[in-house]
Amino acid sequence: MLESSVSKREKTRWTKARRCLLISMLLLMMGTLLNLRSWPLHSWIKSLTVRLYDNKTTQVESLQTSSTLEYFVEYPHKYDFILDEPKRCQQERPFLVLMVPVTPHNREARDIIRRTWGTQTTVLGQTVRHFFLLGLSNEGDGTKHPEPEVLQESQRHHDILQSNFLDSYKNLTIKTMVMLEWLSAQCSIATFAMKVDSDIFLNVHNLVDMLLKAPHYLYMTGLIVRDAEVLRDHDSKWFMPVTVFPESTYPPYAMGLGYVFSLDLPARILEASTHVKAVYIEDVYVGLCLRHLGIVLTDPPRDGLFVTGVPFIISNCYWTSVITTILENSEQLLKVWETYQTQVQAKC
Ligand SMILES: *[C@@H]1O[C@H](CO)[C@@H](O)[C@H](O)[C@H]1NC(C)=O
Ligand SMILES: *[C@@H]1O[C@H](CO)[C@@H](O)[C@H](O)[C@H]1NC(C)=O
Repeated sequence: MLESSVSKREKTRWTKARRCLLISMLLLMMGTLLNLRSWPLHSWIKSLTVRLYDNKTTQVESLQTSSTLEYFVEYPHKYDFILDEPKRCQQERPFLVLMVPVTPHNREARDIIRRTWGTQTTVLGQTVRHFFLLGLSNEGDGTKHPEPEVLQESQRHHDILQSNFLDSYKNLTIKTMVMLEWLSAQCSIATFAMKVDSDIFLNVHNLVDMLLKAPHYLYMTGLIVRDAEVLRDHDSKWFMPVTVFPESTYPPYAMGLGYVFSLDLPARILEASTHVKAVYIEDVYVGLCLRHLGIVLTDPPRDGLFVTGVPFIISNCYWTSVITTILENSEQLLKVWETYQTQVQAKC
């Protein structure tokens, strides 16, 4: 039985090989006929598709132009804060401010941060404060006022900054730039700021510890990405049209999960933004502005401080060893925060 099945397998293998060879030869013949070698297959298929749909080409083209429109960012542009905390920085003189972009409806994420790393307000003798950055949940209704729930939340916690642009993924660059405007105008008294996403574990102790040894000028650190390829595939989350950004790689930038910078940078980046065309990928855009300014990003003092996801296997002292890690969602933060506290108590 074993033998016969082996020979059978052998036989099917040969049949398969022969079929393969036949198909390859057929393809090769077709290829020569159509001169495929000097004409890449994908462009051939594309031109064929275009020809087949010739009647619809103009329609497709106009569709494409309107869909690339959303890749143009309305910045520089004057946006106003409809919720502000203009006095807090002057009064509290923080060493570090944590700036957290979040959508207006995501109250849950804000509350979780207020219960976890947002509680760390004095660390290693340094004052730390957090602020949430919101856009408008709905531009259409011409709102110039925050929604009652957001207003109430703001009056209770005094940690919300809301600006009057539509809060959307493609507008995150606007959010970052408005954040820099606010830092430059209202919080330049602070020594450092960090832009940090809401679904993130943040070890404020390790962060302050690193910053106590960091330069106070021309400084930005985080997870530095170098030679990142510009994605031209329309299906990619980070698709970038050539018309918006023609280079094939991005300059170095600090990944958006959490980047830290000295407070002299906001004004410089804002100045650069008047010369550098905005792209919707916010961390890339900050990198583009830094390149324009000739400012070089600083790598963290060691590897493994800024982590893009919870590793599959983690040590007993993982949470006390990192600065940031991306979590799956903000609910996970509650659990991780408990584990972190245990590790702190265990003197990890
Ligand atoms: C293209 O449009 C013409 C005229 O409108 C029509 O006669 C023809 O069938 C169309 N061709 C295809 C492939 O749809
Ligand atoms: C970005 O915000 C501006 C200002 O509110 C708005 O006009 C535009 O439609 C928004 N863009 C996207 C893609 O949401």
